Amino acid sequence: MRKPVIAGNWKMNKTKLESIKLVTELKNLLPRTVAADIIVAPPFTALTYVFEAISGSSIALAAQNCHWEDSGAYTGEVSPPMLKDLGCRYVILGHSERRQYFGETDSSVNKKLKAVLRSELIPIICVGESLEERKKRETFSIVEGQIKRGLASLTSTEFNEIIIAYEPIWAIGTGETATPAQAQEVHQLIRKVLGELFGGRNAAEIRIQYGGSVKADNVAELMAQEDIDGALVGGASLEARSFAEIIRFKSGD
Ligand code: PGA
Repeated sequence: MRKPVIAGNWKMNKTKLESIKLVTELKNLLPRTVAADIIVAPPFTALTYVFEAISGSSIALAAQNCHWEDSGAYTGEVSPPMLKDLGCRYVILGHSERRQYFGETDSSVNKKLKAVLRSELIPIICVGESLEERKKRETFSIVEGQIKRGLASLTSTEFNEIIIAYEPIWAIGTGETATPAQAQEVHQLIRKVLGELFGGRNAAEIRIQYGGSVKADNVAELMAQEDIDGALVGGASLEARSFAEIIRFKSGD
């Protein structure tokens, strides 16, 4: 049984005080026990404050990126041990915005993935096709390539520690969500590819999140799909009430 995992990616939003306010409101809105892993990924500048604010709650902390070395002459970068030190448990890797605007490639994702695992953090590896690629019917080959290159030379033991996020680029921040069937089709493909690489039993246990305009009113039908195990939420995670509603998708209360 795969435990649902709902993550909020705040991107480049929220100052220190805004971050504390958002996560404190979220904490107060959540029921005592939630049947999902809950993660927030604030900007680097707010990690320490958010960590303090979530203490004693079921919310865990993620960073949105990292470098692949533990330390060194890499001006402006942040390493996995530094993130671990601040209380992070997860790191998002290969988000399409990083691929699109900051030259992230499958090969840098692969190096970062190994560094994250070395620091005993859990990577959330994002993959997904552009609208143009989907129109050209290249979705499967693009996603398969991202998975194979991004996870290259990972051992089966390491594989068990990761989370994958399928985020079609055309659905991110656009209000246009993939239909549950469209998303399920790609999630199923991802699990099949993972099975070929790491064995069917391992692939059956790995959690695959969907991301791209997830909202309170579409999360339940997405989560009802067999191979969708969670959500990576951008815009709707910037407001406590909407994110809390997404987290409570099952109870409907
Ligand atoms: P969105 O972003 O929910 O605003 O579409 C998702 C993401 O980029 O992870």
